Amino acid sequence: MSERVGAEVWLKLEGANPTGSFKDRGMTCAVSAAVREGAEAVICASTGNTAASAAAYAARAGLTGAVIVPEGKIATGKLAQALMHGARVIALRGNFDEALALVRELAQRHPIALVNSVNAFRLEGQKTAAFELVDELGELDALCIPVGNAGNITAYWKGFEESGVRPRMLGWQAEGAAPLVHGAPVEQPETVASAIRIGNPARWEEAMGAMAASHGAIRAVSDADILDAYRFLAAHEGVFCEPASAAGVAGLLEHGAEDAGRVVCVLTGHGLKDPQTALAYAGSVVPCEPDLPAVEQAVLG
Ligand code: F0G
Repeated sequence: MSERVGAEVWLKLEGANPTGSFKDRGMTCAVSAAVREGAEAVICASTGNTAASAAAYAARAGLTGAVIVPEGKIATGKLAQALMHGARVIALRGNFDEALALVRELAQRHPIALVNSVNAFRLEGQKTAAFELVDELGELDALCIPVGNAGNITAYWKGFEESGVRPRMLGWQAEGAAPLVHGAPVEQPETVASAIRIGNPARWEEAMGAMAASHGAIRAVSDADILDAYRFLAAHEGVFCEPASAAGVAGLLEHGAEDAGRVVCVLTGHGLKDPQTALAYAGSVVPCEPDLPAVEQAVLG
């Protein structure tokens, strides 16, 4: 990465969190707060990772978990996680933005804690990722981060501000789901990066504020560039992230680091979350008879 970009590039691997994405940082706080407030259930709208994380922490806390996901639009691993953790998984015939509007209403009518990143505790937990970067690196010039509902970019900036380190916040959206780049909601967001298939981010103002205060930018990358970066990371860095996570790297590879000397790319979720996309865009297996000449031929090509 560093050679290709011409800067010192670091990858922050959030797929190593307990449920395989950065969501755990905030979810442990949000669910703890829900327990303290006496909630019996938690709910969220999700493109998958928030659902997996909410389901896991709700299970551990002995709360009922309900997650509303866009039908057919969440990666298989995330669905398996939410179901295994015992959440009630509702497949909405609509998109993430519609799901979020509905759970906001629902949480007002019933004593159910809303654990989307509109919940302030989520940001408090997620900002710890910025603290870790400052602890490890001291200074950094820019942070490349995928942007969907815009909670994470908001949380990182909060953490950086509290640390007194102010890297440029470079947020990346998928071209087909880039409301912050266009300055208007996208009715029908579309992208291969299902985690960030969001047309009307809840933390819109905060994300724009972080961008402006840090002299950063929010730009769009194409699905083709996201998939290239996704494959590049796996094949050349030995790091398997999910497609949405590769959006920041795609942006950095496409636009370069400008004058930044040290850049961090946040890889928000593990590649195993979405085996289907990997299999669809990776090479294929080589079938082989169980004898030495056949294996020799298969291995040596
Ligand atoms: N990367 C991944 C892997 C995500 O799952 C998400 C968001 C983002 C990036 C964007 O973060 O929304 O804070 O700007 N996933 C949410 C979910 C929407 O429901 O799992 P954001």
